[in-house]
Amino acid sequence: MSAHYFTPVPEAGHRVRELTTTLRGRRFRLRTDRAVFASRGIDRGSRLLIENMPVAPRDLILDLGCGYGVIGLAAAALASGGWVHLVDVNARAADLARANAARNGITNVTVHVGEGVVPVADLTFDLVLTNPPIRAGRGTVLAFFAGAHAVLRPGGRFLFVARTGQGARTLGRHAAAFFGHVAETAKGGGFRVYTATKEHAAAAPRGRAADV
Ligand SMILES: C[S@@+](CC[C@H](N)C(=O)[O-])C[C@H]1O[C@@H](n2cnc3c(N)ncnc32)[C@H](O)[C@@H]1O
Repeated sequence: MSAHYFTPVPEAGHRVRELTTTLRGRRFRLRTDRAVFASRGIDRGSRLLIENMPVAPRDLILDLGCGYGVIGLAAAALASGGWVHLVDVNARAADLARANAARNGITNVTVHVGEGVVPVADLTFDLVLTNPPIRAGRGTVLAFFAGAHAVLRPGGRFLFVARTGQGARTLGRHAAAFFGHVAETAKGGGFRVYTATKEHAAAAPRGRAADV
């Protein structure tokens, strides 16, 4: 059976590559391998997301579906007083993300192997970032949206990127079902970035007990 980039334990042989790139003004050296997403070069959608992600210095951030770590490590470099959790179902990708953190001197990260937000379900984030696994199917992508909403603090933000030709606008509408309002905040090179803010819980109605 051929391996997908979201295979939990890829059996494909190795072909390690090293990519050198600048992200948000910082130089990174990133190792990639077969059976991980964008092994030949950083995905243009991921780059668009990185260029447009609003990271505050002390943010607690989740990179959902981290691959070899490009989004989460760029975020960690910006959130020097914060922390980034990176999650991927693909153990090979998670190993690369961990090694890439060390290679780039980034210490404010934790990399988890697991499904969606399950490994970080007891945490509450300021920002959730993802380039979701479209090829894994809409069910997985919608689970990412639901999971992001569940682990964000009220007022926290969710950003995702998708290819226009792979249904980005439809995904934007799906995300709105979880978040209420979703805005397109960047586009370029055939990709779109969407941003949603988790609403604060509505205030409990007052003085209506007599109507109940
Ligand atoms: C489009 S890739 C993006 C990878 C990386 N963030 C990047 O920008 O290069 C989506 C990632 O989601 C991971 N993934 C797929 N299904 C998953 C799941 N159920 N839970 C966690 N990660 C998953 C894949 O293994 C893949 O690494």
